[in-house]
Amino acid sequence: MLNITVLVSGGGTNLQAILDWVRETPDGNVKIASVISNNYGVRALERAEKAGVPSRVVSPKDFDDRASFHEALLAAVNESEPDLVVLAGFLVSIPSEMVRAYPNRIINIHPSLIPAFCGKGYYGLRVHEAVLARGVRVTGATVHFVDEGTDTGPIILQKPVAVAQDDTPEKLQRRVMEEAEWEILPRAIGLIAAGAVSVRDGRVWIDGANRERIKE
Ligand code: GAR
Repeated sequence: MLNITVLVSGGGTNLQAILDWVRETPDGNVKIASVISNNYGVRALERAEKAGVPSRVVSPKDFDDRASFHEALLAAVNESEPDLVVLAGFLVSIPSEMVRAYPNRIINIHPSLIPAFCGKGYYGLRVHEAVLARGVRVTGATVHFVDEGTDTGPIILQKPVAVAQDDTPEKLQRRVMEEAEWEILPRAIGLIAAGAVSVRDGRVWIDGANRERIKE
């Protein structure tokens, strides 16, 4: 059984996709041990409560400085004893100490095809605004392991989504979520739970028996 801790900041639709996948895939061998939010009163917390998953808030507003917030966040994650930490729309940067404590055991969903439209300043709606401003025809989503950079870790899964001429950032965000994020995030967790994912020389390898599932 893979115990996961999911870190969230807002709406929690990616958390919901994981909750639904876990409920519908009892042989997926995944248990959501805990949900941690950096914001109070967000919809993601309601989703966790409804699903009966323990949740807590670690907000930077409750601490004097960033270092104390980071320390408390790492302590909360450690307490939940995860095998895997999932950043599902977690929009604050995580401490390097956490990356070092969980090497190749933290994954993130990003709403573009990395290495496009990623890195510092590219998060949430801003990514889709930049995609539309540049006029690219194809965008998508990426699940990757988290290293000490911003969106620089080894890529696990990606899925493209076509940009429509009349897209607004909001419309495009929704379609990237529906067509890509909600699919590839649970799928990546399932592959990791199946022991099918390894990292070699900074690249992700998916074992032969499971490779076909990338295309599902
Ligand atoms: C999602 O689109 C996710 O990919 C993005 O924030 C949104 C959260 O939505 N994450 C990033 O931009 C990380 N750099 P959700 O709370 O409904 O899952």
